[in-house]
Amino acid sequence: MSDRVLMAPSILSADFTDLGSAVRLVQEGGADYIHVDVMDGHYVPNLTIGPPVVKALKRVATVPLDVHLMITNAESTVEWYLDAGADIVTVHAEACDHLHRVVQTIRSAGARPAVSLNPATPVEHVRDVIGDVDMVLLMSVNPGFGGQSFIERTIVKVRQLAALCAEEGASPLIQVDGGIDESTAPLVAAEGARVLVAGSAVFCADDPVAAMNAIRAAAESALV
Ligand code: DX5
Ligand code: ZN
Repeated sequence: MSDRVLMAPSILSADFTDLGSAVRLVQEGGADYIHVDVMDGHYVPNLTIGPPVVKALKRVATVPLDVHLMITNAESTVEWYLDAGADIVTVHAEACDHLHRVVQTIRSAGARPAVSLNPATPVEHVRDVIGDVDMVLLMSVNPGFGGQSFIERTIVKVRQLAALCAEEGASPLIQVDGGIDESTAPLVAAEGARVLVAGSAVFCADDPVAAMNAIRAAAESALV
């Protein structure tokens, strides 16, 4: 397993009047992905952005756009995000009746499929698609808002997911999203998480780049 931890700052906590500057700042500072939270006001109780903004972000992104779909109808709208330039598309397992099919749709379009699980969903839920996805996202808060507290149970779930991957001979990246900061990052990295989403801990900091890289350093310190 890689000793490097990838950082995916979430622009949900950035200044929405100046997203281009936020993206440039963190990518020049070493961000590995730009995490884009799409919420539909239905699957989650918040409404954020959609395909036109993803398309605009694509014009300034020099790293992969990591598009996290918190929507009920991903199966019928995923093409919108693929056409807009999403590089990684994460769908919620709980929101897809035909999860395998939507994963194949994402792969066929040349993007990287990922699947997400809410805090109350057991990791076993992804066993039958684990070989088909490039990343599994474990939510460490209930999706919908930035700035929530990390749910401790996620630490055990990362360990369980890493074991499941080993059993299945699969090696998707394990991503954790929600309440990630310098104190929680090492806890999940030690269990196998290699992509960390951080929104408020990065963009609400005085120096977002320093904050992002401090989280990465804290996570990587748990690997040695
Ligand atoms: C929550 C989103 C997260 C959010 C994380 O539903 O999926 O990506 O931006 O924000 P923080 O890091 O503040 O918990
Ligand atoms: Zn997210």
